[in-house]
Amino acid sequence: MITAAGLGTRFLPATKAQPKEMLPVVDKPAIQYVVEEAVAAGIDDILIITSRSKRSIEDHFDRQFELEHHLSNAGKQDLHDAVVDLASLADIHFVRQSSPLGLGHAVSVARKHVGDNPFVLLLGDEFMDTSSTLLPDMMRIHDQYGRSVLSLQEVPSEEIGRYGSVKPEPMSDNLVQILDLVEKAPAATAPSNLAVMGRYIFTPEIFDKIDKVEPGVGGEIQLTDAIAMLIADQAVYGVVFEGGRHDTGTVPAYLETIVELALSRDDIGPDFGRFLAETCRRRGLI
Ligand code: G1P
Repeated sequence: MITAAGLGTRFLPATKAQPKEMLPVVDKPAIQYVVEEAVAAGIDDILIITSRSKRSIEDHFDRQFELEHHLSNAGKQDLHDAVVDLASLADIHFVRQSSPLGLGHAVSVARKHVGDNPFVLLLGDEFMDTSSTLLPDMMRIHDQYGRSVLSLQEVPSEEIGRYGSVKPEPMSDNLVQILDLVEKAPAATAPSNLAVMGRYIFTPEIFDKIDKVEPGVGGEIQLTDAIAMLIADQAVYGVVFEGGRHDTGTVPAYLETIVELALSRDDIGPDFGRFLAETCRRRGLI
């Protein structure tokens, strides 16, 4: 399950008439990286939660015969294949969240599709580097314990208030059991500096908890509050990871992600790097 239903208010006016998930990160829309991450982890059935004016996400993962024909005739076989392959990455389904009532509510919209099965949730405004093993590591822990698993990353105290934060009980190297969690608690009251990041595996019992959750931070149905309720009935684990997360959820984070990915490309990275270094020098930044 990938959530892509947000209004994108942090990116206005760019997102007035287009979904933030379609903003390009170098030459692919942000959501394509998320779908590719899921596919690389072996997931072949993907449900994307969208909302009004997100139609271009559906079009992006569909065939586009006119374009394919044009590319083929123009002898641009590589581009043709890339466009065709996009439509066969996985079985991709869409369901709409009709009102922006929060992340917990967006997840609940998928209940009928998921049924009585465990599922992976990827938040659509962040993705892991192709070198990251986070999702497979989480799947292994889920296979071992049969319980929900969250992804956790240590962040500086001044940033913890932007995230869900957890009270961890260390188990082994990168594994903790989660004893409690709170949404967007400031550093003074956060249970630790371990932040919940946008990769989750849930047992289907999470849906009953979401149904019981009252509006929380920001008046929204918070997924974090539902997980806190789940902990009372079932153990919930956390996999702690260090690097490899690319955030596209805020303008500064989005720019950092683009720079990182552009620099890592063999074709455009070296020239772009020289340009950046030169620009920074010229502006007295380095
Ligand atoms: C959401 C979750 C939060 C989590 C964060 C990760 O917050 O509610 O618990 O830490 O994603 O990016 P949002 O970024 O939607 O405010």
